[in-house]
Amino acid sequence: MKKTVTICFANNKGGSGKSTTCCNVGYELSKMGYRVLLIDGDMQMNLSLSLFGEDVVLESAQSGNNIYTAVTQQTAIDDYITPTGYENLDMVLSSSLMSNIEFQLFSKWQRELILKNCLKNVKAGGKYDFILMDAPPTLGGWVMNMLCASDYLIIPVEASPWGLFGLANMFEFFGTVKQINPDLSLLGVAITKVDTRKNYFKQTVDALQNTDDVHLFTNYIRTDSSIEWAQDASLPVAVYKPSARSAKEYKALTEEVVSLVNR
Ligand SMILES: Nc1ncnc2c1ncn2[C@@H]1O[C@H](COP(=O)(O)OP(=O)(O)O)[C@@H](O)[C@H]1O
Ligand SMILES: [Mg+2]
Repeated sequence: MKKTVTICFANNKGGSGKSTTCCNVGYELSKMGYRVLLIDGDMQMNLSLSLFGEDVVLESAQSGNNIYTAVTQQTAIDDYITPTGYENLDMVLSSSLMSNIEFQLFSKWQRELILKNCLKNVKAGGKYDFILMDAPPTLGGWVMNMLCASDYLIIPVEASPWGLFGLANMFEFFGTVKQINPDLSLLGVAITKVDTRKNYFKQTVDALQNTDDVHLFTNYIRTDSSIEWAQDASLPVAVYKPSARSAKEYKALTEEVVSLVNR
């Protein structure tokens, strides 16, 4: 039995494509036959809403079937998993209560390792090939938990004038987490929302290519309105419109992820 590979999508900058990338890479992995668990770690519940309608998301928030309950009660994640309806693709949904998670974690013993412990059972059972986690745009104790429970970090970066702003903080945070979780690796930086006609893209690529020890994914994701329509319909873009450019780009990015993690 192969080890479950856990990847966290994080960047303290909002709007950089974390939720979109986590959803679509997760879907592509499941289509390749890998068994995938998605975990929505953001109180904005964008990953949850990417694959479920509002009614399901609100119901899981009310019933306690979500990441907040699992973490605050420090119980195994296994009982909080919802099938997405797609083969090989499950999710632990989020809750707006996640706005309170930092306060909840604060007084707990070994508070950086709570999520890791919640995932222990599901990882040991070998039920999933991949666990993908969507982080909120913060760098606090909760994202520390997500990274302490991960093997890899992928940083989605928006190809915009402000896209690189604050990335140094993200790298510094990664360094801090590595002191607690030395096994964590930065798998790479993925550029999203690219308009190849604009200089911002070239500048972003140049800056990242000159950053030591950082792999820049060769497959980037261009701006595509199909992404927004797909999200509006709570569908992966490849389901909403299989011929969409971004569907092909997410497939290529996913293949690059698989080759890098050697699965
Ligand atoms: N390739 C893309 N083309 C067009 N819009 C995109 C693309 N990727 C993301 N978006 C849009 O940009 C916004 C931010 O993306 P999101 O994945 O939610 O970022 P984050 O999770 O980092 O905050 C969303 O409204 C999403 O619909
Ligand atoms: Mg998000």
